[in-house]
Amino acid sequence: MDLLFTPYLATSICAALVVVSLFKLLNKRPNLDHIPIVGHRSLLESYWFTKGLEVDNARFVQEGLDKYKSGVFRIANLTHWIVCLPRRDLERVARASEDHLSFYHAMDKAVKTDYTFGIGIHGYHHAPLIESHLTRNLSVLYTDVRDEIVTACNELLDMKHNEWKTISVVPATLSIASRASNRIFVGLPLCRNQDWLDFNIKVPHAVVKEARILRLFPDFMGPSFVTNLSERISRGATFLGPVIKERLKHMEAEGTDWCDKPNDFLQWWLDASHETCLTMLTRRIVSLNFAAIHTTSGTLSEALLNLAGHPQHAQTLRDEVEAVIGKYGWTKEALSKMRKVDSFLRETQRFEGLVLLGIMRVAMCDITLADGTLIPRGTSLAFPVHAMHHDETVFENANVFEPFRFAEMQDNESERSRHQMVALTPDMLSFGMGKRACSGRFFAATILKTMLAHVVMTYDVKRVNDERSPNSLRIGSAIMPNPTAKIMFRKRVN
Ligand code: HEM
Repeated sequence: MDLLFTPYLATSICAALVVVSLFKLLNKRPNLDHIPIVGHRSLLESYWFTKGLEVDNARFVQEGLDKYKSGVFRIANLTHWIVCLPRRDLERVARASEDHLSFYHAMDKAVKTDYTFGIGIHGYHHAPLIESHLTRNLSVLYTDVRDEIVTACNELLDMKHNEWKTISVVPATLSIASRASNRIFVGLPLCRNQDWLDFNIKVPHAVVKEARILRLFPDFMGPSFVTNLSERISRGATFLGPVIKERLKHMEAEGTDWCDKPNDFLQWWLDASHETCLTMLTRRIVSLNFAAIHTTSGTLSEALLNLAGHPQHAQTLRDEVEAVIGKYGWTKEALSKMRKVDSFLRETQRFEGLVLLGIMRVAMCDITLADGTLIPRGTSLAFPVHAMHHDETVFENANVFEPFRFAEMQDNESERSRHQMVALTPDMLSFGMGKRACSGRFFAATILKTMLAHVVMTYDVKRVNDERSPNSLRIGSAIMPNPTAKIMFRKRVN
C-alpha cells in the first residue's frame, strides 16, 4: 500500500505546488498590457507549445524588429515576459545602478544562482577580484597562460608533419579554454586533471536544466529539492579540498608569503577574504568556471570555424604575429600589438556571438523609456544584441564576415582603442556594457588572442572535404557552436 501510495502522493503534491506557484507568478507579474506581443500570446501558451523548454527567440526577435518600428515589444518566455528595447535606451539601461535595473536579479532569473551554486544575489563577488588581481596581473601570468594553451594544443592536436587530422571543434575548445582558465583559477596540477575539467564543463548543462524547473517555483517555497547543489559542491570539493588544505597549512605556518606561493584566483581569494570554508570556496570557483569556460570556448570555436572557412586570411594573420613576436616575443605586450588577430576575434563576436538577447536586466522600480513607455517594477528587459550587431546603419556589409574591419577602423580613427576587442561601445555588446560589463574580458581576450596566434603560427586549418560547417544552434536566447562541427589541422613546417 505504502509503495503504491508514495509516488502518487509525491506527484500530486508536486502538481499542486506547480499550480499554486504559477498562480502566484501570474498574479505578481507586472502589467505590460500596453506593450505589443510577439510570438506566443501568453506565458502559459509559451509553456505549452515549447513543452517547458526553449522559446524560439531567434524568430520572435526578428518578427518584433520587423513589425514594431519603436523597437519595444515583448516575448513570452515560459515564466516571465521579456521586453525588448531599442538602441536608444541602451546607454541609460547599461549605466543604471543595481537599485534601478538589476543585472544580478536578471542572472538569478536565468540560472537561479542561490539554488544552483549556493550563491545568492548579493553574494556574487567575483568582479572586484577579477579586476583587481586577474586583469592587473595578466602580464605576469602570461607565461603560464601561453604554456597551458601550447601544452593543451600539443596534446590535443598531436600529429606528425604533413598529416591532416580531423578535430571536433567544440570538445577541443572546451578542453583548451577550461585548461587555460583553470591554470589561473586553481593552478597546476589541478588545471590538468581531466575529471576536474569535465566536472566544470558539465556544470552549466545541469544548471540550465535545473533552472528551468526552479523558475516554476517562487522563492518562498525554497525549491532546493529540485537541484543537485549539495552533490555538485561535494564533488567539486573532492578536487579542491586537498589543494585548499595544503594552502591553509602554508598560511598558518608561514603567514602571507612563502616560497613558491601560488599566484592564482584561489590564493587571491584566500588572501583577500580570509574565507576558509571549503564549501564556500568551492561554490566560488565552480561559479567562476561557469562564467568563464563556455563563453571563452564558444568564441574560440566560432573563430576556428571562421579561420577554416576563410583560409585566405591565415597568411595575413601569420605575417602580423611573426612580425610582432619577432620584436616583443610571446608577451602580453605583443598581444596588444596584434591588431589583426584582435579584429578577427571581434568580428567573430559581432558576426555570430553567443547571444540573441543580451544586457538582461530586471527593473527594480518603475521606469520610463525614452519614447515614454512605462516599464513597471519587476519587468525583465533585454536588447536584441545579435540583430544590433547586424545593423546595416551601423556596420557596412553587416551580413558579411570581414575579419579586418575593426583593424581598418583603428587605422582610420584617432580613437583607436574604441575598436579593440575588449572595448565596450554601444555598437559592440558581446561583453555587455556599463556597470556590469564582463570583468573577465581582458583575461578572455588574452586566451583567445594567444590561441589564434598560436594556431596560425603552428598549423594550417581547413574545412573537412571543403564542406560548409553546420550552422550554430539557436536555443532560447543563446547561440551555440554546433557540437558536430569539425575542422582539419595540419602541422606547418617552419
Ligand atoms: C569570450 C568570453 C566571454 C564573454 C563573451 C563574456 C560575456 C559576458 C557578458 C555579456 C556579461 C554580462 C554583461 C552585461 O549584461 O552587461 C558577462 C558578465 C560577467 N563575466 Fe563574462 N564573458 C566572457 C568571459 C569571461 C571570463 C573568462 C570570466 C572570468 C574570468 C568572466 C566573468 C564574468 C563575470 C564575473 C561577470 C559578471 C559581472 C559582474 O559581476 O559585475 N567572463 N560576461
